[in-house]
Amino acid sequence: MPAQLLKGKPVADAVKEELSAKIADLSFVPGLRFVRVGEDPASMSYVRGKQKMAESIGLDAQTHELPEETTQEELLALIEELNNDDNVDGILVQLPVPDHIDDTVVLEAINPEKDVDGFHPENVGRLWTGQESLLPCTPAGLIRIMDHYELPIQGQHVVIVGRSNIVGKPAAAVFLARSATVTIAHSRTLDLPALTKQADVIVAAVGIAGFIKADMVKEGVVALDVGLTRIDGKIVGDIHPDVAEKAAYLTPMPGGTGRMTVAMLMENTYNAAVRRRG
Ligand code: GUN
Repeated sequence: MPAQLLKGKPVADAVKEELSAKIADLSFVPGLRFVRVGEDPASMSYVRGKQKMAESIGLDAQTHELPEETTQEELLALIEELNNDDNVDGILVQLPVPDHIDDTVVLEAINPEKDVDGFHPENVGRLWTGQESLLPCTPAGLIRIMDHYELPIQGQHVVIVGRSNIVGKPAAAVFLARSATVTIAHSRTLDLPALTKQADVIVAAVGIAGFIKADMVKEGVVALDVGLTRIDGKIVGDIHPDVAEKAAYLTPMPGGTGRMTVAMLMENTYNAAVRRRG
């Protein structure tokens, strides 16, 4: 029997509906600012999607579009301005930034209280030490989708393929916090199939289309696809479509984890606003 699809839309819609009501109840309008440097088409499309969802739930959302040749100093000056703006609760600098800008310096410049991506080292440290923090949105979305479809996490062997700061590493932290047994594998892992075949839950986040094949997973696996590649205008995930024949549950691509990432960004913005403004 083919896998049951873990669609992101119903889960994201539920989050949006709940947040819209909570935002309408506040005595202020939370502010979210996107910063995009350059004209990367994928980044432009992602930021447009985030801006649209933010507006639709009643946030005060604005996008700062900076030219490709923006210097690091100019970008840091804008971040400083947003850090000091009391109407701004969340700041998101869309990655990647152009090569002449050091993303580590940029992410560290964002006030951790406004770091709705959860990428600031302070929030990363808080996450790994079990303290309250703003959670990275994609990993938070994976947990939310599993909870929504009532799939167990505690004690499950979660094999994460990919070790990026945006997905792989924080996914390990959030699943560990929920008492999963976590393995992080990556492109240089020896005998990757030996590991992925042990997975109760597989998180595919390497960014290589169709990388996880059916013969690499066990029957009944829960397969969460985070990778996204555009091939001839078509969106393809890291999980090969044949995996659907073996998996018990599979996130569709598109229509799976991506929507959840944006929904979690909205939740982070709400939480950051309420915490900061008391
Ligand atoms: N680029 C790809 N994913 C993300 C994300 O979650 N946040 C930011 N800021 N940039 C990204």
